[in-house]
Parts: sequence; C-alpha cells; structure tokens
Amino acid sequence: MGVNVSGRSFLTLLDYTPQEINYLLEMSAEFKRMKRNGVEHKFLPNKQIVLLFEKTSTRTRCSFEVAARDLGMGVTFLDPGSSQMGKKESLADTAKVLGRLYDGIEYRGYKQSVVEDLAKYSGVPVWNGLTDDFHPTQMLADILTIREEFGDIRGRKLTFFGDARNNVANSLMVVCAKLGMKFCACAPKELFPKAELVEKCRAVAAETGGEVVLTESVDEGAKDCDVVYTDIWVSMGEPAELWDERIKLLLRYQVNKELMSKAKDTAIFLHCLPSFHDRETVLGEEIYQKYGLEAMEVTDDVFLGKQGRQFDEAENRMHTIKAVLYATLK
Ligand code: CP
Ligand code: NVA
Repeated sequence: MGVNVSGRSFLTLLDYTPQEINYLLEMSAEFKRMKRNGVEHKFLPNKQIVLLFEKTSTRTRCSFEVAARDLGMGVTFLDPGSSQMGKKESLADTAKVLGRLYDGIEYRGYKQSVVEDLAKYSGVPVWNGLTDDFHPTQMLADILTIREEFGDIRGRKLTFFGDARNNVANSLMVVCAKLGMKFCACAPKELFPKAELVEKCRAVAAETGGEVVLTESVDEGAKDCDVVYTDIWVSMGEPAELWDERIKLLLRYQVNKELMSKAKDTAIFLHCLPSFHDRETVLGEEIYQKYGLEAMEVTDDVFLGKQGRQFDEAENRMHTIKAVLYATLK
C-alpha cells in the first residue's frame, strides 16, 4: 500500500515509520528539483498556516514561510510577545481557536508536551519546529544532505560530538536508528542522551540494521565516521551560566582539523546552525574575551573547509519542510 501521511502531525520521528520518512525525503528531493528548475508548485492554494515561535529562529521560520508561499498558502507569524497564548489564554483554548482558523500549526518552544497538546486540542496537523527534546524537521534536511553526498545511507556512521542530550542529538539518534544508520554519541558521560530514549532507539535499530553507540572517546567516535556532526554547546532556553561548565566538559570534543583527520577521508561535516565558529557574533566575542577561545564547537578552518556541507543542509531545511507541509495537508 502507498504511504499516506495526510492529516498527521509531525511531532517526533519516533511516530514515523522508515517508509514514511523515506517518502518525505523523496518528496523533498522532487520539490528541490522543481524549485531549482523554476517549476511552479502552488499545489495548496486556499490553505492557511500559523507559525508560533517562543524561541528565536532564522532557518526554521524562513523555511516555513518560503515553503508555504511556494505552495500557494497563506502564512501568519506569531512571536512570543504577540499572542495571548499562555498569558491570558490557556494552551488548550488557543489551540482550539487556531484550529478553527488555520489548516496547520507550526510550534517552536520549550516543552515537548506543548506541541503534543496543540495537536490534541487543535484538530489540525501540528509541526514541531524545535522543542527542548526534539527537532524533527531538521532531521529531514540532514538526511537529505547525507543522501545527496553518499546515495545509499544504510550502514553509514554519523557521530554527534558535543551536548549529546540536546534536541538535535536526540533527533539524530532517532532518525539514524529508523533509517539503519550507525549513530554514535561522542560526549562526556554527563551529557550522554537519556537511557530511556537510547533504549527506544536501540530497539528500532535492531529492526533496521542500525546501531546506537555512546562513547567518551573522540578516537572511537571519529573512527570510520562518514558524517561528523556538532551543535552549539548551550541550547536555547538553557541558562547562560552553563557556558563555564560546558566549555570545560566539551572543549576536548571540539570539531577541529585533528578530529576531522581521524574520520574517513570522505567524511562530511554537518551543523544544524547557528554556529560559534569564529568571533563574529556578540556571544562569540564575549567567550573569546572571557576564555580566549577563537571558536567553540567547531573551528573556522573546518567550518569553511571542503568537507563542510552545512549550507546545503540549511537550504535543504526549506525543501524538506515543504514536503512535510504538502504531505500532511494535501
Ligand atoms: N537549525 C535551525 O533550526 O536554525 P534556526 O534556529 O535559525 O531556525
Ligand atoms: N540545540 C540548539 C539547536 C538550534 C537549532 C538549540 O536548541 O538552541
């Protein structure tokens, strides 16, 4: 039977089968071809979606807006200061109202339970644009980028270096397990992913031929690695005081030339972005002044080097989000 995800929410990839994920990836590649070739694809005129952002964003917000407009849809953007949600109106009431006005709702914020409740009460598809636990739309872009590089991705080893219990690392572990890849979390033990999620992913990997490994050793993480992945050391919503502790814990997991030389020669570098790879940001400069670090999770030479695919990955956010919108709303 053909895959059909129409009417579904997209809250975590744990809810999606490998066949459904591959279907979304195929559709993303097709949308990318159409966009590149200038083929109009206003397939969903008369649909309206709303974007709720309680945390800041460049890629996710812009991808949703461009994707929706390319599909012919209308888009409303609400930032934390401009709706009643949470302050004067409960989440359930807000969801019920938005579900009457819109065909779908994107949410970026804190607790995973908020996207789940939005889906429960609104009655329309809800898309997770990042929570403290998961970042599923990012995963489709990451896997599309890996597929563009390597073709068949089964058995490929992806290692995440850094805060391996953050939303991006959690989601990478899920998607790699679903698609039969080898996922390695390379981090100090304090920052290993939660045991419960690791067990869930290992059970999935046992079905798909994938693998989930946790290690504190950079040598082990980098060995035979096809995809070197890192993310910011302190995520949105975490207190700034954590920088001190995280720098101490994670400096030896920084992705630099030496670490890259331990991976396969053909390895690529990915980063969900934004990234602290130089001093060209307010925080990057503050960290330099305080700790003398020119870069944090990745050095500038790797970021700008020939293995970097992070800007293809960023572009792929839009094509993959478009596939999610179309597949769930058509
Ligand atoms: N990667 C990502 O989600 O980027 P933004 O925070 O800019 O949306
Ligand atoms: N882990 C990061 C991802 C940003 C896209 C954060 O939550 O801030």
